[in-house]
Amino acid sequence: MKEMKLVRNEYFHSPIWKEQAQMDLPFLPTPEDTIKAIFETLNLRSPLYGKKLVDLGAGDGRVVFFAASFYEMYATAVEINEEMLQTMQISRDNLDNHHNFDNRHNNGEEVPSDLKERIEIIEADLFSFDVSKYDVVYAYPFPKCMKAFRHIWEQIKPGGCLVSIRWQIDFLNEVIPDNNMIKIEENLPSWIYFKE
Ligand SMILES: C[S@@+](CC[C@H](N)C(=O)[O-])C[C@H]1O[C@@H](n2cnc3c(N)ncnc32)[C@H](O)[C@@H]1O
Repeated sequence: MKEMKLVRNEYFHSPIWKEQAQMDLPFLPTPEDTIKAIFETLNLRSPLYGKKLVDLGAGDGRVVFFAASFYEMYATAVEINEEMLQTMQISRDNLDNHHNFDNRHNNGEEVPSDLKERIEIIEADLFSFDVSKYDVVYAYPFPKCMKAFRHIWEQIKPGGCLVSIRWQIDFLNEVIPDNNMIKIEENLPSWIYFKE
């Protein structure tokens, strides 16, 4: 039993697995106007200020930096590609904190004025990452990864939401009432699924 666990862990951290994962889900960035439209829609439904976002497979970090800079969110990037992780780290180190807004308050919690403190970069596998504490779970998945979204959806807390770029999450289309699902058509189509 012990041995099996070890083999499994080694496999998940092996270069072969990383390569396969990135073949199944390669880097493709969300276009800027799509990102803007999604955040505007989310913020209208419920203000994003001080909330937590995770981008599952964050690429160059554009979504995470956007969320933290323009909506004052706490934003977490989960990624396995080493170059992408390095790019994000460098971008984070070079951030100009003058982008900051005033320190306002959210449910008694103060949002740090330091933009860098609100951005977290984590090397991890998106499919086994715990998303239960996040308000917004963002993903640009490929059809091959869809199965994993059942487990991700189960973890999302009530009041949270899942954003899916380009691909609909098939099983959610069948179970979610229309008023909890928004389709955005700005450059790339995207779907937002709200959990009650
Ligand atoms: C389609 S891109 C999306 C990039 C970014 N979220 C955006 O929308 O601009 C998917 C990213 O997921 C990363 N990725 C692929 N498999 C992964 C895994 N198992 N765990 C974490 N990241 C993964 C890839 O390296 C790639 O950067």
